[in-house]
Amino acid sequence: MTASTEWSIQADPPALAAEAARRFVDSCNRSIAARGRCIVALSGGSTPRALYHLLAAPPYRDAVNWACLHVAWGDERCVPPDHADSNYRLARETLLDRVPVPAEQVYRMPADMLDHESSAAAYETTLRNLFAEARVGAHFPRFDLIYLGLGVEGHTVSLFPGSSALRETARWVAAPYVEKLHDHRLTLTLPVLNNAREVVFLVAGAEKAGILRRVIADPPEKPLLPAAAVRPVGGHLLWLVDRAAASSLDGA
Ligand code: 6PG
Repeated sequence: MTASTEWSIQADPPALAAEAARRFVDSCNRSIAARGRCIVALSGGSTPRALYHLLAAPPYRDAVNWACLHVAWGDERCVPPDHADSNYRLARETLLDRVPVPAEQVYRMPADMLDHESSAAAYETTLRNLFAEARVGAHFPRFDLIYLGLGVEGHTVSLFPGSSALRETARWVAAPYVEKLHDHRLTLTLPVLNNAREVVFLVAGAEKAGILRRVIADPPEKPLLPAAAVRPVGGHLLWLVDRAAASSLDGA
């Protein structure tokens, strides 16, 4: 059972990016005030680009104590870090090269290793070290903030419909083969997503209207769609969507 679910429907992509930036700053500052740091997992794809650009400039850039941020990723394509498809490169170019997060607090997913399972295991070790003192007894890490996107077939991070990674109950990071992409991906697993303090879905565009309606209608007790399985127990779930993506929802 998600502790709380919230909807914020914004007029258009620029308004959505601005609200996402405002929420990002608020969430980071709450975590830093409470625990001295904020551990965030960034999403990839195209939607967050506008958010990252906003965060890298005033007023948002000046509203966060970036030295207290620890930056991880929710998933990564199996490409080098300078590849055009790299989620790391997206965040590096649009945000991390422009704000003072200490280099040792940026944790890139090593998705470019030849052996994908070794990549997943290596990243899990990185996260176990990052969360070591905070986990006392808990099996899964508790990210302060995780930003997610929504794929047109209902995937989020790199958890695609039908993936065996959806059934993962122990590992923090998986390296599923994605039929649709004819490639492997690296991804956080559902237990990690569902242990976060706050999860934000950032969804924009009319092409996402159909899948968003299906995700919301997916039965929570046995969801068919990966994005519908994201229900942070004891955490806050925020759907940040623009009006075009929300256009098929009841009452939209
Ligand atoms: C990725 C993302 C993925 C993304 C969705 C939405 O690596 O592609 O993590 O889960 O968030 O596919 O992508 P868009 O924002 O490009 O629509």
